[in-house]
Amino acid sequence: MRTTVGIIGAGPAGLLLARLLHNAGIDSVVLESRDRAYVERRQRAGILEQGTVDVLRAAGAGERMDREGLRHDGIELRFDKRRHRVDFPALTGGRSVMVYAQTEVCKDLIALQLKEGGPLLFEAEALAVEGAGTDRPRVRFRHEGEEDVLECDYVVGCDGFWGVARKAVPAEVTRVFERTYPFGWLGILADVPPSHDELVYARHDRGFALLSMRSPSVSRLYLQVPEGTDAEEWSDERIWDELERRFETADDWRLRRGPITQKSVTPMRSYVHEPMRHGRLFLAGDAAHIVPPTGAKGLNLAVGDVVTFARALVHRRETGSDTLLDAYSATCLRRVWQAERFSYDMTTLLHRAPDATPFEDRLQLARLDRFASSRAAETDLAEGYTGFPLD
Ligand code: APR
Ligand code: PHB
Repeated sequence: MRTTVGIIGAGPAGLLLARLLHNAGIDSVVLESRDRAYVERRQRAGILEQGTVDVLRAAGAGERMDREGLRHDGIELRFDKRRHRVDFPALTGGRSVMVYAQTEVCKDLIALQLKEGGPLLFEAEALAVEGAGTDRPRVRFRHEGEEDVLECDYVVGCDGFWGVARKAVPAEVTRVFERTYPFGWLGILADVPPSHDELVYARHDRGFALLSMRSPSVSRLYLQVPEGTDAEEWSDERIWDELERRFETADDWRLRRGPITQKSVTPMRSYVHEPMRHGRLFLAGDAAHIVPPTGAKGLNLAVGDVVTFARALVHRRETGSDTLLDAYSATCLRRVWQAERFSYDMTTLLHRAPDATPFEDRLQLARLDRFASSRAAETDLAEGYTGFPLD
């Protein structure tokens, strides 16, 4: 098999890249180790930055998003029983975000790719990237029990944190920057209308809680739990009781309860692999970097990476120049580190570390109080949340 761009992984990064290349008339093959049902069922994040929404629309993949997605113009910060709304458009010159699940983005892109795009092979596991430093990189993979080779001009590793692409970057040129957190998120889906019309980020002495949603009738909620927690330790009643405590307010706001349909624990990590390119191998999305979910940046960073790669390749085709491809890693990393900083700040602002001291608790409250008293502080949060520019 031979193609221009070999794409490993059919998460949002790989699927969107295939779509962008197809629209530009560049052929690609996508290899995905899981089956289609698994990829379409996987629960992930749900916040699309303005820039991500614009990219999906321009790629012709925004039709259902525009019908079913929920535009959000702000979030609520909740601390000390107080409620403070951050108004995004007012602070950022009109920017907002969209609540539309990553799973739905993937479903839309898969349907488009299978209908109009190049090959998308499910249950095709990449085993290794070879010859990244040459003009003819290859992906060795296994499909339907047979080993095969995909010969490419370029390989893009969109294979997530546990993928194989990153391993093809030699250790001598690699630097990894990492931090793990001593807590995770217990996430639930519940068949109950969201208890608030915008997301609520709550800081509480018992730990962080987040109220999000998937639709007007489905709530998505999260609780900070100790690292290594097993979701089965948490009965439905215990989850609702704990959420109720952490979202407590001084007014008459109430949390609506309903049947919990899914429960899982996500670990929290910050991770950056530098460089994001070696020869003709490019890394994109979770394959190159992880952020803790507090800032809702993971999917949006993946989109930024693949847009940057597609633009660079189109530039090469039009001008013959490798300048933008050569700049890929540095261009992406600038934005990646801004998102790492933002996600770290949001995480340390809102979570309670197991060894937190009363002094640190007071500092957290003082940091939160800044948003209620300073427009400059609020503007910084609104700019970060609605997204850092692609250029
Ligand atoms: N061969 C083929 N496919 C692979 C391999 C492999 N060896 N290893 C992993 N994959 C596939 C996974 O099954 C998955 O479908 O690569 C895909 C990676 O997708 P994601 O993990 O979703 O990563 P990415 O596309 O970079 O999306 C960015 O943003 O919200 C965050 O972490 C969240 O998934 C999200 C991410
Ligand atoms: C989600 O809805 O899954 C979600 C929303 C906001 C976040 C993280 C996750 O910061």
